[in-house]
Amino acid sequence: MKVLVTGGLGYIGSHICVKMLQKGIQPIILDNLSNANPEVLNRIAKITGIKPILYKGDVRDKMILLTIFSEHKISSVIHLAGFKAVGKSVKQPIEYYDNNVNSAIMLIHSMQKMGIKSLIFSSSSAVYGVPKQVPLTEASNIGLTTNPYGTSKYIVERILTDLYIAHDEWSITLLRYFNVIGAHQSSLIGEDSQGIPNNLIPYITQVAVGRYKEVMVFGKDYPTPDGTGIRDYIHVMDLASGHIAVLENVSQKSGQYIYNLGTGKGISVLEMIAAFEKASGKHIQYKIVNSRSGDIAECWSSPTKAYAELGWKAQYSVQDMVNHSWQWQSQNPNGYQSL
Ligand code: NAD
Ligand code: UFG
Repeated sequence: MKVLVTGGLGYIGSHICVKMLQKGIQPIILDNLSNANPEVLNRIAKITGIKPILYKGDVRDKMILLTIFSEHKISSVIHLAGFKAVGKSVKQPIEYYDNNVNSAIMLIHSMQKMGIKSLIFSSSSAVYGVPKQVPLTEASNIGLTTNPYGTSKYIVERILTDLYIAHDEWSITLLRYFNVIGAHQSSLIGEDSQGIPNNLIPYITQVAVGRYKEVMVFGKDYPTPDGTGIRDYIHVMDLASGHIAVLENVSQKSGQYIYNLGTGKGISVLEMIAAFEKASGKHIQYKIVNSRSGDIAECWSSPTKAYAELGWKAQYSVQDMVNHSWQWQSQNPNGYQSL
């Protein structure tokens, strides 16, 4: 089975490719390297013994999509390519809508032209916006998004829903990822954040390696037990297994499928800092600052639908996730540029 993985050189895509190769599924990667390093291919080869085929190009380029679809018999497409920084999306909304929405439209057009009708889309818990209640189930309200990034994911979900309404022979899976962290156990691949990290875990790891002095904890007055924000952190290899479960169970069956990929457990910022201190054996200094605009108090999933329908559930503990993030960061302090 050959699967086109757009954005396959990125953080999540590289881990999915490893899982696929270990399951005998062949990934064909399309990536424009806008947020990736080609060294990832060598690292995937070191882990799996196989170097995946890479097409260097943009998903918005129809010609390259048609070339891939005519050169390979693609059974399914996993569409990860896109921009993901919430804060940047507020400052550069048009770039975000262009990349995230136009790439999906171009991909669907090209798939239609070549008769490929199986698509798995990387959506986000950001589509739920400010939750009315937690845990979030797939039936919770969506669309009241708080930033252009979340809105771009919501728009693509709507486009794919309309596509399915018009063409119900398609298999369309919307995967709503919660907060993805961790790295492959080998520490050969992981999240390679460029510049000042926007997200909590890369920031904590940079404090632990000494690049920054202290973690800024955004707010301590939330209505949560310790007053800091609560999120559902999921190990990237568990997330990768979720994609394999979709490929094996529903990707060749027509239908529209929607799943949360989370653990169902909420962890606070201070609990995360404590887990990192344990993993790294270092004291992690932090400072309470004002809450970040657009942030919400709590966001965590009910993952039961994915278990009931796909037999998938997250396996790694919070301490595993943090240990693996720390091992990756400490062994690759400059990410893929370390070599
Ligand atoms: P990433 O930036 O590491 O990976 C994205 C990859 O896509 C990069 O390799 C980049 O070079 C490539 N890319 C971007 N635009 C492209 C284009 N137009 N054509 C071809 N390649 C392009 O991000 P990630 O963390 O691996 O996230 C992957 C997907 O999952 C994204 O769609 C993101 O929105 C979604 N997601 C991520 C998280 C998370 O916590 N990381 C949570 C929810 C959803
Ligand atoms: N936080 C801090 N200090 C920091 C960074 C974050 O205290 O330096 C706090 C936030 O306030 C929040 C928690 O840590 O309470 C997590 O924040 P992140 O920035 O790590 O993650 P978000 O929940 O804001 O969003 C992330 C991704 C989105 C994705 C979402 C759900 O950035 O792309 O998870 O999947 F949509």
